[in-house]
Amino acid sequence: MYSKEEEKSLYELAKRLIETLPGDPEKAAQQLRDVIIYADWKYYVQSDPVFSDFEYDTIFKKLKELEAQYPVLVTSDSPTQRVALGLSEKFPPVSHLVPMLSLDNTYNAEDLQDWDRKCKEAAGIDEIEYCIEPKYDGASISLVYEDGKLARGATRGDGVMGEDITVNIRQIKSIPLSAAFMKYGVQTVEIRGECVIHKDVFAAFNTQREAEGLAPLANPRNAASGTLRMLDPREVGKRGLTAILYQVSYYNLSDETPEALHSHYDTIQWLYQLGFPTPAKEMRRFKKIGEVIQFCEQFEARRDDLPFEVDGLVIKVNSFALQDKMGMTSHHPRWAVAYKFKARQATSKLRRVEFQVGRTGAVTPVAKIDPVHIGGVTVTSISLFNEDVVREKDLHIGDTVLVERAGDVIPYIVKPLAELRDGSEEKIKFPTHCPVCHSPLVKAEGEAAWRCDNVNCPTQVVERMIHYVSKDAMDIRNLGGANVQKFFDLGLLKDIPGIYRLDWDKIRSLEGFGEKSISNLQQSIENSKKQTLNRLIYGLGIRYVGETTAKTLANAVGELKELYDWNIEQLTSLEDIGPKVATSVAHFFAQEENRHMLHMLEQEGVNMKNSHKGQHTATGAFSGKTFLFTGTLSKFKRSDAETKVEEKGGSILSGVSSKLNYLVVGAEAGSKLEKAKKLGTVSILSEDEFEQLLNDPKAG
Ligand code: IVH
Repeated sequence: MYSKEEEKSLYELAKRLIETLPGDPEKAAQQLRDVIIYADWKYYVQSDPVFSDFEYDTIFKKLKELEAQYPVLVTSDSPTQRVALGLSEKFPPVSHLVPMLSLDNTYNAEDLQDWDRKCKEAAGIDEIEYCIEPKYDGASISLVYEDGKLARGATRGDGVMGEDITVNIRQIKSIPLSAAFMKYGVQTVEIRGECVIHKDVFAAFNTQREAEGLAPLANPRNAASGTLRMLDPREVGKRGLTAILYQVSYYNLSDETPEALHSHYDTIQWLYQLGFPTPAKEMRRFKKIGEVIQFCEQFEARRDDLPFEVDGLVIKVNSFALQDKMGMTSHHPRWAVAYKFKARQATSKLRRVEFQVGRTGAVTPVAKIDPVHIGGVTVTSISLFNEDVVREKDLHIGDTVLVERAGDVIPYIVKPLAELRDGSEEKIKFPTHCPVCHSPLVKAEGEAAWRCDNVNCPTQVVERMIHYVSKDAMDIRNLGGANVQKFFDLGLLKDIPGIYRLDWDKIRSLEGFGEKSISNLQQSIENSKKQTLNRLIYGLGIRYVGETTAKTLANAVGELKELYDWNIEQLTSLEDIGPKVATSVAHFFAQEENRHMLHMLEQEGVNMKNSHKGQHTATGAFSGKTFLFTGTLSKFKRSDAETKVEEKGGSILSGVSSKLNYLVVGAEAGSKLEKAKKLGTVSILSEDEFEQLLNDPKAG
């Protein structure tokens, strides 16, 4: 795509453009575009960013401003044109230039040997060169470029007709909006590939969904295909989709056929050179099927090391002349075959459904199945999330169910095999009363979960205490979930204030509690009394109050008691607090029991004051912004840097997730940086850039 010299000069150009622009607006726009296209390619295709987010954003902003000033300078392939404005109504049908076929499958060495024999027969020769590349588990897409510009993006649909999803495709930053096809006399070209979501982006996405009370998506494939068909392209942009292109399915030329378009291998390298994400680096060529088989077996053992899901490998005859000679059946080409990895699906029997109560009283159905071995683990228990999910899937006790576990993804039930029913299956009955304390369950309007409304329900009490001591709340190390449960079961602990009044003589007599562990435990309980007010508020486990809201609430008052009488109006006047959260907060503080508990905590010496009031109010320059520091910082002590962020109204997160705005990177940063890069939504700052941001009065 770029020579070393070109890369160097684009890099230097970028640095100059950050400082100043050329006087000629047309030239300036062209240069800014070139630099952004280069930066996107480095970041999204090469996974090797060269600019910090701050630099990138500065250049991008300059192009946007210039285009706003001179609208005639806007080109259809300008990086600013990925940004979509409105909602799509629906996706119009389009017919593919060539039908999108599927692949025949093989599962073992013998199948591959058979396939090799058939290939040789069909080709009429006794040695064939094969290419082998990953089979990406996502949603297939077709891209059409006309005169070098992306003209259309479509889903596979039924293989003949797909849906026009161009607006969404333009959001995928690894897909070039233009490419130098014209240089090769290629006027129209259709390229096919797969749209995928990286596993960690998918995991972060599901964590977010669960926090919002939504059932997580089953696997990255469903997430990719669902995202492609979302009606709001801006959402598509946020989801971190990427693409891998593995076939040129159609082209028309004004000239001779370019050299690359004679074989699959060269085509994939050529597309890569043109800036497309392709399997160029992963791909191998072999002349003997034995080597292909060996590669398949070795690759399968490494499948979990890849950043996205791969469900097999695809073996293709390299020469296009041979491919043409071999042709296709009505379903699949004869010149390609999939080698499928061992399934991560299995069937089992659904024996019963248990109902588990969580901290907020939500009752979750959990399927108990006969033990089944999938992808290296034994699965016996699978969350069914809520009643709606059970009804939608039409699950019955006694059903044979199809269970899937893809990579690191939690196992889930795909569907019951209704055809195997013998009539003995039973409907799943939802409890009307809490399985723990027997209070009647209630269901709020618009919510999927049934809840136990009894705040004294033993499970809820234990879960609330576990939440209170957890790392992001009061961080009482050494008093983990198991000890809380144990002390509760033994009657040594019955509520949160009880943590500060444990009977140490009794604990000393328990097995496993030596002097050392007791003194550690006492120390961390003692330390927790000095925790900040926001951690205490978060630790109270008020519904809908996460870490960010807890900070907003803590920063709004000098001491906790001030919140007792705040009404909905006062609460909603705070940033990011809507009526739902406000109602929950007001309800919590209005309850006598809760006030009593807080009074007890105060008596025990737990900090109830906000020592920084006014310094980091919600109106600070960083208000609503989240930061995380990683690696070894040289300019700041980490705790000082964190305090500075908080003083400006920002907050510190404990891990990289879609909630994170800024990752400040010191020396030898590791997995957090990788994760943030993959997420694509986090601004990555050097220490210097962080310092600049701190000193910038408008920053945040
Ligand atoms: S080649 C004519 N190569 O697998 C068929 N397909 O089961 C051309 N897929 O519909 C397909 N990775 O969505 C090809 N490296 C790869 C692939 C791949 C994933 C998908 C594709 C296809 C399905 C067939």
